[in-house]
Amino acid sequence: MANNTAKLDLDGKIYELPLIVGSENEKAIDIASLRAQTNHITFDDGYGNTGSCKSEITFIDGDLGILRYRGYPIEELAEKSSFIEVSYLLIWGHLPNKAELTEFSNLLSQEQTIHANMKHHFEGFPSTAHPMAILSSMINAVSAYYPELLEGYNPAHFKLQAARLISQVRSIAAFSYRQSHGLPIIYPKKSLKYTPNFIHMMFSEPYDEFVIDPAVTKALDLIFLLHADHEQNCSTSTVRMVGSSRANLFASTAAGVCALWGPLHGGANQAVIEMLLEIHASGDDGRKFIEAAKDKNSGKKLMGFGHRVYKNYDPRAMIIKKACDDVLKALKINDPLLDIAKHLETAALSDPYFVERKLYPNVDFYSGIIMRAIGIPVEMFTVIFAIGRMPGWIANYKEVSDNQGTRIYRPRQIYTGPINQKYIPIDQR
Ligand code: SDX
Repeated sequence: MANNTAKLDLDGKIYELPLIVGSENEKAIDIASLRAQTNHITFDDGYGNTGSCKSEITFIDGDLGILRYRGYPIEELAEKSSFIEVSYLLIWGHLPNKAELTEFSNLLSQEQTIHANMKHHFEGFPSTAHPMAILSSMINAVSAYYPELLEGYNPAHFKLQAARLISQVRSIAAFSYRQSHGLPIIYPKKSLKYTPNFIHMMFSEPYDEFVIDPAVTKALDLIFLLHADHEQNCSTSTVRMVGSSRANLFASTAAGVCALWGPLHGGANQAVIEMLLEIHASGDDGRKFIEAAKDKNSGKKLMGFGHRVYKNYDPRAMIIKKACDDVLKALKINDPLLDIAKHLETAALSDPYFVERKLYPNVDFYSGIIMRAIGIPVEMFTVIFAIGRMPGWIANYKEVSDNQGTRIYRPRQIYTGPINQKYIPIDQR
């Protein structure tokens, strides 16, 4: 780089601000001294151009459609790795050797059962409660059984806490599904690995044999893996924000669940299927819906399309779209929603509105098709996203907590409200 500072010409003075260059050659202007030097702050509504931290976990190139976990391309991990191996990679920064993976897997099995008293919390929810409301509250409820969490971040306890969270988020999700459908709770089996155990807890019956289809296990493990981390997205930034106050791991990830719930974020996978069902029921071939999505006054968006960072095809969507065909074929399912989704994609990607704005399918556009095919109810889709994203949230929480220099996240603002108000007694208002 020619020089390693940026010059700012402001009020007749020239200020020099240092430049930062990342390992993938991303460039930033370090404005840490800006307010002290110029009495100005920056303004960036929605943080679209603001780096909140340095991170070694995940890299995205939105223009090229690149996603790498700790430097490994998502395509290679999707083909060769597993959700639990990728979870280890994200949290501890290297692919585990056999001993490390066995130890971690055993820890997940050891910590998979939630306290029996937790069932009273599940019973307290109405059957209509959204599973994301249950999930966020249960993560904090579970933490009450681990008082050592209250001491804050302790590297000596972290692996146990991380394993508990990754393992039990799965049990909480399955229990909330069973509870809301009036089904008996199914406890995890020691003999089953992570993803098949979740399928067992979700769908087996205490009075009948239940065969776990390997195609279902493979598809769900891929969904978890592809959702495992994604830089400073809304929910991960929330986990870092809460973790920066030195709140404990469970409190921080429970906050992440709440952020993920929004339909513009993780809730989009549920919204996509609801959109496809609406289109299917209306007999529209998708063109009417696309016109509505282009009309700002319609209140509709093409859910599963667009992304703050990807201005190219989301590599995860590419992988999931291919997996859709494989999973539906393996399960001998013909889902008309897949054809509608493919038609919508083709129509949108040839429409100037979407092309000019570089709106492509994102991870949520096809993921619901797979989840439907393996029997996950639509209201559980975002919970599946949360289970997948848990290792990424934990990795980011660890990165914030390990860095002794981390300051509490506290953005500034530009005040635009009323000034110099005088108090008026109520009988004069
Ligand atoms: C996830 O950040 C991550 O990494 C998130 C995620 C992860 O793994 O954590 O990848 C997961 O959240 C994926 C995104 C899921 N959400 C959706 O699919 C909801 C639909 N998408 C949009 O709401 C939107 O694209 C966002 C929220 C994803 C991105 O919003 P931005 O970056 O704020 O973009 P924007 O709203 O400023 O859009 C720019 C333009 C606007 O039009 P103009 O004002 O320029 O005329 O594009 C339009 C928008 O109206 N637009 C869309 C659209 N998305 C953007 N128009 C119709 N349909 C859409 N889906």
